[in-house]
Amino acid sequence: MFRAVLPLTSGQQLSVPSILAIILMSASLALFILLTSTTPHADPPSSDITPVQTGSKDAYVLFLPTSSMEQWYLRSALVMIFALTTDPLFKDPAGRDVVVLTSNMTSSEDIAELQAAGAKIHPIPYLIDGLFPDVSHTFPRYKYTFNKIWVWDLVQYDRVLFMDADMIFTRPLADVWIDPHAWPKSGLAATADLGAQLDGTYFNSGFMMVRPDRAVFEELKKVELDDVFYPDQNLLNKYYSRHGDKPWEPLNRHFQALHPTAKDIAGGAYTLQEKGWSKDTPFEVGNIWWTWYGQAQEISVLRRV
Ligand SMILES: *[C@@H]1O[C@H](CO)[C@@H](O)[C@H](O)[C@H]1NC(C)=O
Repeated sequence: MFRAVLPLTSGQQLSVPSILAIILMSASLALFILLTSTTPHADPPSSDITPVQTGSKDAYVLFLPTSSMEQWYLRSALVMIFALTTDPLFKDPAGRDVVVLTSNMTSSEDIAELQAAGAKIHPIPYLIDGLFPDVSHTFPRYKYTFNKIWVWDLVQYDRVLFMDADMIFTRPLADVWIDPHAWPKSGLAATADLGAQLDGTYFNSGFMMVRPDRAVFEELKKVELDDVFYPDQNLLNKYYSRHGDKPWEPLNRHFQALHPTAKDIAGGAYTLQEKGWSKDTPFEVGNIWWTWYGQAQEISVLRRV
């Protein structure tokens, strides 16, 4: 049984050998990814980019509304947070905040670990329950999934990059902030879901650039749903419909590889959305996950006890 532990108490410094170890391990992961990729770089974003607005405030956001259901989500979130805040290979160069939305169902132990990995905690004021159909019979972990819409309440940020907690990074993600669609007029940019066409009209809600807005948050609560097989995803696709007045905008599809395979890794994907720990994960993808997770464990963000 694994159990995550606090890495460093506040004020404690990383020793020189630890820093060397981090650099060495990151370098070996970089080498590993290079060796397993034939074309490690995607096309650069086109030149008609909206200029980066100075003084804008951005954050990466994850969502962990409950503890104990599936500990792997916590472990995966810890590795993602550590990557974005600390790991020299993936660290955000602008030092953007990494925020985790939690609820009163997130344990204080988990919260302490998330903070120790480098996250800021944003407890949601209350759990939205009863507004939308009960979807916990599909998957128990869906019970609070509609609470993802709290992302729109984070108005202290101009933009947030929301990610599900089951992401594996393969390249530094910061390019996403200068994607041509990184300032979506409608307030949302994402990538098309694989179930639809790659350039299709239905997006995946696991990786979204959002411009938080409290009026939109209130409107989202009023969306009427008939099909809730993909609960929050269907809700958001209804609100940001390509055919409506707030169409979502497409991000470079390399930012999110869904059901990833070796081909995506070779093709320059930035993230692989996959439960790396699951037996059903393709070998090449699982391999990257276990390498990534193992390194984070060794430098004690996560440690076996
Ligand atoms: C959490 O808050 C909700 C209301 O948002 C309440 O119904 C529930 O009982 C609370 N649960 C715990 C464990 O405190």
